This record gives sequence, structure tokens and C-alpha cells, in this order.
Amino acid sequence: MDKRLDDILRRAAKIMLDYANPQVYEKGGHADFVTEADVAVQTFLLEELAKAYPGAAFFAEEAEDNTLGDGLTFIIDPIDGTTNYFRRRRCSAISIGAVEGKRPVFGAIYDPYRDEMHHAERGKGAYCGETRLHVSDTPFERAVIGLGSAPYYSELFELTGRTVGALLPQIADFRRTGSACIDLCDVAAGRSDGHFEWRLQPWDYCAATLLVEEAGGRCGSILGGDVVYDRAMPHLAANARIFEQLQRALQRVREEMP
Ligand code: IPD
Repeated sequence: MDKRLDDILRRAAKIMLDYANPQVYEKGGHADFVTEADVAVQTFLLEELAKAYPGAAFFAEEAEDNTLGDGLTFIIDPIDGTTNYFRRRRCSAISIGAVEGKRPVFGAIYDPYRDEMHHAERGKGAYCGETRLHVSDTPFERAVIGLGSAPYYSELFELTGRTVGALLPQIADFRRTGSACIDLCDVAAGRSDGHFEWRLQPWDYCAATLLVEEAGGRCGSILGGDVVYDRAMPHLAANARIFEQLQRALQRVREEMP
């Protein structure tokens, strides 16, 4: 892994952990919060990445008017799992993905609570620290599937609820950590078998999508087509064995919505 990125992530995590009781602000959507630590970590990341990678563009959760540049663009979530963070649930991570044009080329996710540095570079595999990651080969009926509840979009609550009701009898169980990038690291590491959320933002999944793909898994839109990095999408990741079956099952729930 690029030493510059490793160093920046670890220093950013120190800022994050140094806040004992961060100020919390509402962003506007349903239960959508930002803390002063999210802002401080993002400010640090933008400054340090700009110094380390001159000319790079930025697309970041706590910024406005995000667009992808023509060359290298960093897609950043300063704290993924913000609610976990200020509720002291110790399940949040910093995610930095880098896209060239429209596809991720490298990325890393640092979970300071477990001191886990997940990282991937296109064509070079996915790792947690020095350990190479591989997705599982678990079949659909025994799958443990991570679920994002799209909590900021009330128009998706019913669809999410119906999805749980329809799929639970078909798989082993669901998991919901409250951090999409940590859920996706679990898919890459074979600790779960898939993950979906009916609307997810590029900063939540950019680095983790590359990680899952480099670990041998598949990612795409729940509705079909590739992952996009310039806007929110219905994001799906899974081991290669169940990807299409899970995708079809999710599509069926949406088609059957009244
Ligand atoms: C959120 C988390 C959560 C997911 C939300 C994300 P944030 O990120 O990843 O698991 O369900 O859709 O927005 O807001 O804590 O950075």
C-alpha cells in the first residue's frame, strides 16, 4: 500500500479519536447527522492528500457540488458510521477511494477501533494489513447478507422493509453494522457473503467496491449495470457465486412493490 495514504489515514484517525464528546449537527435528511469531527477529519484529508498527490480532485461527503475530475479524483468519507461514532459504538471507519476517470484504481479503509487497514489496488489484490483477502463461496441459502437501511431516504423505508421480509426466509440471516464500508470489508474478507443498500453514496462504497472486486467478488447496481462513482445508486456487492441470485431476488421485491 502507498505509504503516503497509510500515513494520512492513521493521522486522520487520531483526530477522529481525540474528540471525547463531539458536537453533532443535523444535515437535513431523516436522522442524517454530521459531527465536528467529520468536518475536522475531512479538512485534514483534503489538505494532506492535496500535498501528497498534487493535481488530484476531490469528491467528499461533507462538501458541496461534488464532481469527478478528468484525472485522479479522491472520493472520501471522513467518518463512515457517523451515528455509531457519536453514540460511541466503536464501529466507524475512514474511507478513501481514488478513481481515474470513472473507475477506482486504489483505495483504503481504516477502522481505528480494530486497527484494521483494508486496502486494494486495481489488478493487485485486496488486503487487510499484509493478509490477502478472498470473498466467500457460501451458497445463497446459507448466506449472511449485510444490509444498509438507506436511513436518510424515507421514500425507501417500505422497500427496505419488504426486502427484509422477502429475503429472510431464503438466506441464513442479515447483519447491519451502521457503516457501509465496514460491511463491504466484511464481504471482501469472506466474513459475510453480500451487502446491499437501496441508495448509497459514492463515498460510502468507492474504496470498498474495489476491495470486494479485488477479493474476487462482484459489485454492481441492484437494478443491473455497473457501479457509478459520480452519484448515489442502489449498490450491491456479493461473492461471485450468489451475486446474480441475490440481484434477481432484490429486483423481484422492487417489481412487486404496490
Ligand atoms: C452511512 C453508513 C450507513 C448507511 C448509510 C450511510 P455515514 O454513512 O454507511 O451504514 O446505511 O447509507 O450514509 O452517513 O455514517 O457516513
